[in-house]
Amino acid sequence: MNFPQPKVASLPPNLDLHGKTAVITGATAGIGLETARQLLKLHVSHLIIAVRSVSKGEACKRELQRLNPHAKITVLELDMDNYQSVQRFAKALKLKVPSVNILLLNAGIGLLKLERSPSGHDRVTQVNYVSNALLIAELLPYLKASAEQIGQSTRITWVGSRMYFTTSFEKKAPMKIGEHMDSKQFFFPNERYNDSKLLCAMFMYSLAARLDKSKVILNMVCPGLINTNMTDVLPFHMRMVMGVVKALLARPVEIGGRLFVNASVAAGPESHGGFLGDMEIIEPSPYLLSPAGKAVQRKLWAETIEELGSLS
Ligand SMILES: NC(=O)c1ccc[n+]([C@@H]2O[C@H](COP(=O)([O-])OP(=O)(O)OC[C@H]3O[C@@H](n4cnc5c(N)ncnc54)[C@H](OP(=O)(O)O)[C@@H]3O)[C@@H](O)[C@H]2O)c1
Repeated sequence: MNFPQPKVASLPPNLDLHGKTAVITGATAGIGLETARQLLKLHVSHLIIAVRSVSKGEACKRELQRLNPHAKITVLELDMDNYQSVQRFAKALKLKVPSVNILLLNAGIGLLKLERSPSGHDRVTQVNYVSNALLIAELLPYLKASAEQIGQSTRITWVGSRMYFTTSFEKKAPMKIGEHMDSKQFFFPNERYNDSKLLCAMFMYSLAARLDKSKVILNMVCPGLINTNMTDVLPFHMRMVMGVVKALLARPVEIGGRLFVNASVAAGPESHGGFLGDMEIIEPSPYLLSPAGKAVQRKLWAETIEELGSLS
């Protein structure tokens, strides 16, 4: 990422989401909440906010509804820390919403210590990576059916981060990716978030190559450094440092929302399988393009498919 961060262009004029249904995960704060606001201002007809706290989601819904009193806003529970919650959410969505145009996978975390999800996985890997892979797998047939019903490709935009360009895998390539991410030995606090986002990017590239973009367009977006409360989980001294960094260098949350709307609505089919750094498709990282990175990407695909298969 380059600092100072470049200016971000406006969205194309005349974007109108009337008649469209959009789902966004992690819409109770930060860029997710702002993206929800922007989708409503663009007249989206039905917005599903997928949130881990329904009471917080209902409070957000009240704020959001004021921006567009005509839109339908549905709050659905989704805790990305928990596979069962992901499966329950997918089931509820399919039951309650006949078709979806846009799925925005935004929820994400960064932690500096190893915590365990109910599955036993490292929490950052669970929330940022494997639960998203499961959610996509659970929803793909429904998203394809939505595209057929609507007569237009369904969109999946997954929020990544260019932080993935710096990865601990360069120092120590994982033999088994799941075991590696779950082991204390390979938990490098400063690189855990980056490593989890690397897994997301690898899976996105692998999956996009297997999808028919006339049915589902899948892309990934990084909004650059955005001024949100994501850094609140850091220890006090690091929060102080990040406070200064953000004050000097971070973009306001409106820019993050604009970039997510761009990736999920304005970017065309050419963005399928692409990683949007701001609004432009950027090359995969040198590590991802290296033979070592490609080998990890292949292993990750096989391991993830095996794990997801064991859950159904
Ligand atoms: N901010 C940046 O500079 C930046 C840069 C690049 C990429 N990103 C990515 O952008 C996305 C949003 O980040 P942000 O800065 O907006 O973060 P944020 O302000 O911390 O918001 C995160 C959102 O995710 C939700 N969330 C957290 N854990 C969850 C879980 N287990 N299940 C469901 N939802 C959960 C949070 O819900 P609660 O309100 O319940 O906590 C919140 O709505 C993340 O994927 C992040 O990695 C951010």
